[in-house]
Amino acid sequence: MKHYQGIIFDLDGVICHTDAYHYLAWKKLADRLGVYFDKQINNRLRGISRMESLDIILENSKNVYTDAEKHEFAEEKNEYYRQLLVQMSPADLSADVKNTLDILRKIGCKLAIGSSSKNARYILERIGLGHYFDAVVDGNEIQHSKPDPEVFLLAAQRLGIVSSSCLVVEDAAAGIEAAVRGGFDAAGLGDARVSPFAKYHLIQFDELIDIITGNRK
Ligand code: G6P
Ligand code: MG
Repeated sequence: MKHYQGIIFDLDGVICHTDAYHYLAWKKLADRLGVYFDKQINNRLRGISRMESLDIILENSKNVYTDAEKHEFAEEKNEYYRQLLVQMSPADLSADVKNTLDILRKIGCKLAIGSSSKNARYILERIGLGHYFDAVVDGNEIQHSKPDPEVFLLAAQRLGIVSSSCLVVEDAAAGIEAAVRGGFDAAGLGDARVSPFAKYHLIQFDELIDIITGNRK
């Protein structure tokens, strides 16, 4: 039986549904620029940084933009995104996620966030989890976003747990790859549920309790 001492959660698309807001904000920018963008392309953006996401979106553009223009576009998208985040409240945290986190904490499991987002701390505040986690590592602290394992390795270090004793929960293919490269077992949710590299394939968040208590191998 595998014994995990800690769990590192991705944020967008795992703890809350900000992945849908990322899509809406990128869609608004892409429409303004006249660039084709859909949900399938959006799935390629999960887990990767804002600027890398923009480069993927601009693959469908006929125009070539300067770095200064690209930074303006990324800033514009972030403004659209922040307008959506401002409306978030603790009601955007599902009961399933909150109850599961509470139970995991109660049984002594250390809990961390490992997100590529520079908005992660703001989102955690909005949904009432501002001071909840034992460690939070976000896009402001890392040099390389997923699939590089940096964000998860730093989170594990802050928890004081080796990667082989930590489980990573992810909705992104890039996040599962980052976890495996860092020596973590990974649980895939949502878009990453079918990932062959995930050790666990979750339909519901509360399945994590059985994994941590050893009731599920
Ligand atoms: C997360 C999301 C990505 C997003 C990235 C950067 O990893 O899954 O879709 O591009 O964070 O987010 P930010 O809030 O910094 O633009
Ligand atoms: Mg995600």
